[in-house]
Amino acid sequence: MGFIVGTADPARYRRSLLRAAPLLLSRLTRPDTRRSLRYLIRAARWPGPHASDTLYPAHLHLNVQQSARGLGAGETLLRAHLALLRDARVPGVQLSTTTENVAALGLYRKLGFRVAGERQTPLWEPWLGHPARHVVMTLALR
Ligand SMILES: CC(C)(COP(=O)(O)OP(=O)(O)OC[C@H]1O[C@@H](n2cnc3c(N)ncnc32)[C@H](O)[C@@H]1OP(=O)(O)O)[C@@H](O)C(=O)NCCC(=O)NCCS
Repeated sequence: MGFIVGTADPARYRRSLLRAAPLLLSRLTRPDTRRSLRYLIRAARWPGPHASDTLYPAHLHLNVQQSARGLGAGETLLRAHLALLRDARVPGVQLSTTTENVAALGLYRKLGFRVAGERQTPLWEPWLGHPARHVVMTLALR
């Protein structure tokens, strides 16, 4: 019904993305692959604001299936993931979202994340139909 993925090592994350490139290119006939690739190319062209990798090295992304939203799954996933990061003595975590994503902003704020920077971006324009504000949020874990 949902997933959370993350890393405590930004350099490793970038290497993983690069390693995924050949796989994506080999599946270009699939519409979902083309959508993912389009997003990645746009994200590279319009990078979001970024917090310090030293203070907040961990990054994460989570998604809950539409029919299961609002039932506490996102919060449970995120709390479990943050506990793992704390156990691993990771100093902090950062993530990106948009001011349009009211649910994500609500969840992150509830768990203590604060906005560390924001920037107007055309990144999501094909999906939203208008520019949005790209937000980076941070949470210190110790
Ligand atoms: C963001 C997302 C993960 C939240 O997961 P969820 O399981 O629906 O959220 P939960 O039921 O655990 O809610 C936890 C808290 O989040 C906030 N929240 C959740 N949905 C909300 C909404 N529609 N509006 C405002 N706040 C919301 C609330 O603070 C809520 O706490 P509360 O129930 O005490 O008010 C989910 O909406 C989702 O997968 N969205 C699409 C993918 C996405 O945007 N991922 C994040 C990318 S940055």
